[in-house]
Amino acid sequence: MAIVRTEKLCKVYSTGKVETVALKDVSISASKGEFTALVGPSGSGKTTLLNLIGGLDRPSSGDVFIGDEKISAMKSGKLSDLRLHRIGFIFQEYNLIPVLSAVENVEYVMLLQGLSRKDRRERSLKILDEVGLSGKEHSRPNELSGGQQQRVAVARAVVSKPEIILADEPTANLDSETGSELMKMMLRLNEEYEITFLLSTHEKMVMDMCKRVIRLKDGHVIDGG
Ligand SMILES: Nc1ncnc2c1ncn2[C@@H]1O[C@H](COP(=O)(O)OP(=O)(O)OP(=O)(O)O)[C@@H](O)[C@H]1O
Ligand SMILES: [Mg+2]
Repeated sequence: MAIVRTEKLCKVYSTGKVETVALKDVSISASKGEFTALVGPSGSGKTTLLNLIGGLDRPSSGDVFIGDEKISAMKSGKLSDLRLHRIGFIFQEYNLIPVLSAVENVEYVMLLQGLSRKDRRERSLKILDEVGLSGKEHSRPNELSGGQQQRVAVARAVVSKPEIILADEPTANLDSETGSELMKMMLRLNEEYEITFLLSTHEKMVMDMCKRVIRLKDGHVIDGG
């Protein structure tokens, strides 16, 4: 069964009198454990699509399903809850909390989920070790390199074992070697925990490492949906 599915998804942004059709009739699906790249030129709708799938924004029409739940029609409280428990996010700009250390950044989601302090700490230290950051647990984001910050972000997304991880250009700010290391790490976590990954990218190297590719152009799926 598809763990992520969109049905004729449309998104129109209105700014003043200008309307931009960012997505038009996008129907895609991904099964459990897939590792899929979303590719397409700048402005083709990648970020918009990830935001709709993650429930960070609402479609103009069409539907998004996470498992058998139709999230496009869900009340916002229930949607936040679903996001917290079933979806992990990784962003291009890392989006770590600057005043918190690496381990505190990773613990934060589990704090919202109500896990005990001991569980939070144990799980965070284990996952930081898995992403190669032992020794850096107590460093703040500004004391870490870009690649290390993105590893913290990956650890934060993975730690509560969500079913899906959505990553918007996770390697865009990294040099190609660091980006490739990050990809290998995400592929390992994908296999180890059977987390479904959907990530957007401009880079051929990243695309080549993904098991499946969906191509967008001008808000349409042109291949692989
Ligand atoms: N908040 C917004 N308000 C108005 N228009 C927007 C908004 N966000 C995106 N758009 C427009 O929607 C279209 C799709 O944008 P989107 O950011 O999804 O593309 P993208 O494929 O992620 O591009 P990039 O590769 O540059 O990140 C573009 O024409 C963009 O200008
Ligand atoms: Mg984008």
